[in-house]
Amino acid sequence: MPEVRVYSSHTRMSEAAVEMFVGLALSAIEARGLFTVALSGGSTPEPVYAGLAAPEMADILPWEHVHLFWGDERHVPPDDSDSNYRMVRESLLSMIEIPEANVHRVRAEMDARMAAFDYEERLRAVFGDEWPVFDLVFLGMGTDGHTASLFPHSAGLNEEQRWFIANRAPELDAWRLTLTKNAINAARQILVLVVGESKAERIYQVLEGLHQPEDQPIQLINPEDGRMTWLLDEAAAAELLSLSD
Ligand code: 6PG
Repeated sequence: MPEVRVYSSHTRMSEAAVEMFVGLALSAIEARGLFTVALSGGSTPEPVYAGLAAPEMADILPWEHVHLFWGDERHVPPDDSDSNYRMVRESLLSMIEIPEANVHRVRAEMDARMAAFDYEERLRAVFGDEWPVFDLVFLGMGTDGHTASLFPHSAGLNEEQRWFIANRAPELDAWRLTLTKNAINAARQILVLVVGESKAERIYQVLEGLHQPEDQPIQLINPEDGRMTWLLDEAAAAELLSLSD
């Protein structure tokens, strides 16, 4: 059973995520000289990225030893309003001093399949040819139980060899670019950030319901050797908390 931590609000959850990021970064840098993290998209992590961008963080986080990747990306150019890169650039990158070479953007302006191969090459250049062992992978969860861009009933759920793929999102009728389940599960630490009452029923089904990963793909995420921690606000944990009443 993964660890579940519940916070009184999105703000408190984000503050906890920032603290965990700093702790993981400092220990990774001490142990291996660098900290590799795959960022998630969507709206939930934005306050976390803003917290990391706070001026006082500059004295704590040695950004020159931090390497930022994206766990998934939309198939749009980097200046598109849907781009996860653009969201991170606006909430974090524009506020910190990080070497450009440490920011590993998905070149999502390319043909989707080409962009996926291109990014996998970039990952192999950093991680070598074993699975990419990220120090930290941030994940979110949709109300349909998707995570990264692993959507229900999408072909990408069955990928066993690749690290990073183009995956057709049936409901969105659009291409997405995403880490595969095996690449995510190689991580040392996975943090799943979920807030809001709209996610409460799905959280309950995923953690307490039947194992149906085709229908709720986040159930495919279970790190081999690493740790998985869910950071929830009380609204998202409401169904879980009613269990313990
Ligand atoms: C994306 C994300 C996606 C996201 C969930 C939750 O590219 O949108 O990677 O997996 O984490 O859809 O999104 P919210 O945080 O906006 O609810």
